[in-house]
Amino acid sequence: MAILLPGGAGYIGSHTAVELLKAGKEIVIVDDFSNSSPKVLDAIRKITGKDFKFYELDYKNKEKLEKIFEENEIDSVINFAGFKAVGESVKKPLEYYENNVSGALVLLDTMRKYGCKKFIFSSSATVYGTPEVIPITEESKTGGTTNPYGTTKLFIEKILEDLYASDNTWDICILRYFNPVGAHESGLIGEEPQGIPNNLMPYIVRVANGTFKELSVFGNDYDTPDGTGVRDYIHVVDLSKGHVKALEKLDKEGNGLYIYNLGTGIGYSVLDMVNAFKKSTGKEVAYKITERRPGDIATCYADPTKAKVELGWVAEKNLEDMCKDSWNYIEMSQKK
Ligand code: UFG
Repeated sequence: MAILLPGGAGYIGSHTAVELLKAGKEIVIVDDFSNSSPKVLDAIRKITGKDFKFYELDYKNKEKLEKIFEENEIDSVINFAGFKAVGESVKKPLEYYENNVSGALVLLDTMRKYGCKKFIFSSSATVYGTPEVIPITEESKTGGTTNPYGTTKLFIEKILEDLYASDNTWDICILRYFNPVGAHESGLIGEEPQGIPNNLMPYIVRVANGTFKELSVFGNDYDTPDGTGVRDYIHVVDLSKGHVKALEKLDKEGNGLYIYNLGTGIGYSVLDMVNAFKKSTGKEVAYKITERRPGDIATCYADPTKAKVELGWVAEKNLEDMCKDSWNYIEMSQKK
């Protein structure tokens, strides 16, 4: 019985592959390397000392996807094959809807055909739009997404709800990620953004290593303690462990549609992150205050109680781990 990981060579997929292998699970990775590299597969093998099957293909290719279900006993699927760049999604909405929404439809339809009905979906805190109440619980209102990327997450959640309503023998878990940062402590896998990074931590490490002169802090006039945006940063290894717990829950209880926030429950500002990075690594991060970034909200952090109570999952790593591991990864990749 294997777990299929479309997008398993990507940032969150690769870290989850490691945690699943460590937990003794069998995995099959599918990736087209559109936003990842073949080197990641060897890194996963090196970290875990375990092997797995890999198929290079676009997960939207139904014919080839079906072949994988023919050749393997796939028991469950965790989908990491979504495109995730907010800015790019505004410029390429059709590509985002096609890859994320049509891709999910192809995947779910193929799963149904082969009687595989256990699915974990990588959603995002972005589905809450501008939150009305902080911290955000799973019951908070969703909607009001401000970009096509976020809307794809919202649409897929809705598709999963409708699917479950039509057939309650599906076991579905929607995981709403807050802000994943950090890297595996080995420095062998981590985040590899293409071009100029959009997200804060990848930008901070690239200012620290001299790739960029300074960080632009997008606004210091928000209604937050220091005026800069507050987010719930979560170490990618903690996040990955959340998937293992979610799978265990589906294996044990099944037949349900579950939704969990995966965050720490702590909000840090942009300047908190700059200061924590310096404290953890000794590296200065030059910055300047600029205009607000369109679409940004002031504050977003999770109430992670439900995941703690129902999955037995809590984030264990702290801000220092997040900074150190992000820095270690970029230093290690420069040495390669
Ligand atoms: N920020 C800067 N300068 C930068 C980059 C970011 O000041 O160069 C600030 C942002 O304004 C924000 C904070 O740092 O206040 C975090 O920004 P990120 O771009 O790292 O993350 P976001 O919270 O905007 O978005 C992330 C993911 C999305 C996801 C969303 C959910 O990138 O995929 O969280 O809330 F949808």
